[in-house]
Amino acid sequence: MPVVAIVGAQWGDEGKGKVVDMLSEKAQVVVRFSGGDNAGHTVINPSGEFKLHLVPSGIFYPGVIPVIGNGVVVNPAKLIEEIDALNKCGIDTSRLVISDRAHIVMPYHIIIDELEEKSRAGKALGTTKRGIGPAFTDKIARQGIRIGELLDKEGLKERLGMVIETKNDILTKIYGVEPLSLQDIYKQCCEYGDRLAPYIKETITLLRDAQKRNDMIILEGAQGALLDPDFGTYPYATSSSPLSGGGCLGSGISPTSIDRVLGVYKAYCTRVGSGPMPTELNDEIGEAIRVKAHEFGTTTGRPRRCGWFDGVAARFSSQLNGFTGGIITRIDVLDELPQLKICTAYELDGKIIDYIPASVSEYDRCKPVYEELDGWQTSTDHIRKYQDLPIQARKYIKRMEDFMGCPVNFACIGPTREQTIPLNPIF
Ligand code: GDP
Ligand code: IMO
Ligand code: MG
Repeated sequence: MPVVAIVGAQWGDEGKGKVVDMLSEKAQVVVRFSGGDNAGHTVINPSGEFKLHLVPSGIFYPGVIPVIGNGVVVNPAKLIEEIDALNKCGIDTSRLVISDRAHIVMPYHIIIDELEEKSRAGKALGTTKRGIGPAFTDKIARQGIRIGELLDKEGLKERLGMVIETKNDILTKIYGVEPLSLQDIYKQCCEYGDRLAPYIKETITLLRDAQKRNDMIILEGAQGALLDPDFGTYPYATSSSPLSGGGCLGSGISPTSIDRVLGVYKAYCTRVGSGPMPTELNDEIGEAIRVKAHEFGTTTGRPRRCGWFDGVAARFSSQLNGFTGGIITRIDVLDELPQLKICTAYELDGKIIDYIPASVSEYDRCKPVYEELDGWQTSTDHIRKYQDLPIQARKYIKRMEDFMGCPVNFACIGPTREQTIPLNPIF
């Protein structure tokens, strides 16, 4: 059985949670591999409606081992909150595994994220203020503390002592705020360690054994390709790679072991936070999409910026990820619109270009070149067969497919598992 990576192809919130929940039925392992609780994955299934931030979306199947991979940064307080909330709804979380190599989001990361955003003033990145950037910064600077270290209380004390001294220098001398108490943080970490101990494991052998058994492994991405720190709209990006390549680094699964890479695309575009978005609609159509689709951030509640489907960005994302297939969500959101647009190129300073420039100031100046398509103006949320979709909707999907550069596996016309129309088989 194969390894399938499922990743966001735009600016996040494409519907990865729904897709992973749906496809986990056949899986034995589901690994979240990047980001932290900046992610918000909505799953609606017979057990209820859930907003998952750290727990993999495969948690709902008793036959699935959900793994929080080494590439995730974990805020233990948030994870415990999430486990408790799931248990309250009768969801068994005892199979959950957290890689001992995953890094911890510490209280100072959250404070520094907020202070850094404040100091950027009008140029704030619009982060989720979950401490994600500072936690990944510490990981790369070799100042991070890993989940596995919570289980060695003596060693933890020593590591924390060194790190907190530096953090307190930053807090007091640069930002002029109160220092943090080493004792308080240490005590809290020991409590987290006691609570999370049953979940913390070495995951490389677990994945090796799963591969030996021919288990189906899903790599669940967070965020989206255009938030990648290398290829996204830097600096308006996140701090870990949401790409399929990030799936290898964040799980320990090798690139040659990945059999399928599925890109999740919304039928239009949304973005939360700052940064360029050439197809953004600051008009009544953008507002209509936001209201109909309830486009508000799953994690922060901020209104999502809405715009037309961006074919240039879609193609870029497909190239970076190597998509073998795509999933289109939220076709139903476009049901009422008489006319639809797809961006096919950009105009930059009078020149037509078909790529995303590296410079955000150039990208900001890019004006979308649109192709117009007829809308279908009829509801699609009850449709289950591709042939039953209105011809205009089929044409729209086919046009999206041209830019995605891979066959569409499913089109979604609602948030539930059943609201899914199969097109091409994944295998
Ligand atoms: P994720 O971060 O990629 O998992 O996506 P989010 O959960 O943040 O946002 C996607 C939203 O779209 C959620 O509210 C889903 O329930 C919803 N959703 C997913 N697929 C569809 C669809 O085909 N139609 C509609 N109307 N909603 C969908
Ligand atoms: P899911 O997994 C949408 C955005 C933030 C901000 C930028 C940097 O639900 O698709 P960060 O807190 O990561 O330092 O913020 O990245 N962002 C997301 N946008 N969906 C997400 O996750 C996101 N995770 C981070 O809004 O613009
Ligand atoms: Mg989300």
